[in-house]
Amino acid sequence: MNRRRRIYEGKGKIIYEGPEPGTLVQHFKDDATAFNNKKHEIVDGKGVLNNRISEYIFNHLNAIGIPTHFIRRMNMREQLIREVEIIPLEVVVRNVAAGSIAKRLGLEEGTQLPRSIIEFYYKNDELDDPMVAEEHITAFGWATPQELDDIMALAIRVNDFLSGLFLGVGIRLVDFKIECGRLFEGDMMRIVVADEISPDSCRLWDIETNDKMDKDRFRRDMGGMLEAYQEVARRLGIIVSQERPVGSGPTLVQ
Ligand code: TMP
Ligand code: ASP
Repeated sequence: MNRRRRIYEGKGKIIYEGPEPGTLVQHFKDDATAFNNKKHEIVDGKGVLNNRISEYIFNHLNAIGIPTHFIRRMNMREQLIREVEIIPLEVVVRNVAAGSIAKRLGLEEGTQLPRSIIEFYYKNDELDDPMVAEEHITAFGWATPQELDDIMALAIRVNDFLSGLFLGVGIRLVDFKIECGRLFEGDMMRIVVADEISPDSCRLWDIETNDKMDKDRFRRDMGGMLEAYQEVARRLGIIVSQERPVGSGPTLVQ
């Protein structure tokens, strides 16, 4: 039973009002979606894993001074976050060609890019999240030039941190997506990392085998999505083993 006020329901998460003003509760669902909800399945246990993986990453970002909306995990599926004004952009950072850039520019998947590339997509389901340029973002007022500078600086810092974190556990960070929000504190405003960072929003390849350990397993009907997410969590030290049957939930440390 849930009597809290539901503020927003997305494809993978629900946002409830939080216990104090300025806070919200972010609830991770088990829904797996791709291609703007044209493909949809329930994957038992995915929400629990993404909650834990995203908690781990956001805690580390906070610890090294990269501002985020994350306060703390509350339970298996929920985390307490600061209320922010979400900027309607998907900010994608790419290190290796895969997915839409490979298709758009005719690059072979797996090609190292000459440098990390930042792209912006306008968050709009009816339009299928079109790619946009800085010109569109500032002209339509989705973000100011100063905010865009802050967003790009955050994206690069997140990329540097995540690349190292995953490399340390034998995983190549091919690309990822973040969302940013405006956090208002008194009469100050700053841009922070919001939403989630999980295998739903990253491409993660095993360094040795190039095995995919992310949502492409679902998008491309490869199977083994939950096992791959469990392996990411296991390598990061978030869960201890995979001895329990799939779907019964991961074994939690602590
Ligand atoms: P793409 O290759 O489909 O453009 O995706 C690039 C990365 O960004 C990939 O890791 C998936 C992630 N992403 C999302 O999580 N949500 C989105 O809506 C988009 C467009 C990308
Ligand atoms: N289009 C994105 C993806 O394939 C997001 C989504 O539709 O869920 O991951």
